[in-house]
Amino acid sequence: MLTIDSLGSFEVPAGKRLIRAILDDANADQHYSCGGQAKCTTCRVVFTSGEPAKITQAELDLIAAGKFAPQAGERLSCQCTVDGDMSIKLQVPKPPAKQPAIPADDIVPPPVWVAK
Ligand code: FES
Repeated sequence: MLTIDSLGSFEVPAGKRLIRAILDDANADQHYSCGGQAKCTTCRVVFTSGEPAKITQAELDLIAAGKFAPQAGERLSCQCTVDGDMSIKLQVPKPPAKQPAIPADDIVPPPVWVAK
């Protein structure tokens, strides 16, 4: 179950990419300037519960490069999958000004998972 602050709770297929669950299952507006390729950070969300224990190397690389300085619980929704109950707050809840390609079903780049 995916719960989004002020929007409600939504059933999501296990393992679905979080950005796609926000867009498809919750039908919520969510920014994704780079099209879900771990480049822009506009897809960021804050987990209030159920933050995944794994993180992609691509997300870690953005943090290491100083391009993403996450607050507690903050993650890139294009780099997470829905693997259990989770509650989030959208950080940039609006559609992209320019319409990039809708993020693919699978995480891009192909995920190299690291324990968080
Ligand atoms: S959509 Fe750009 S980093 Fe996630």
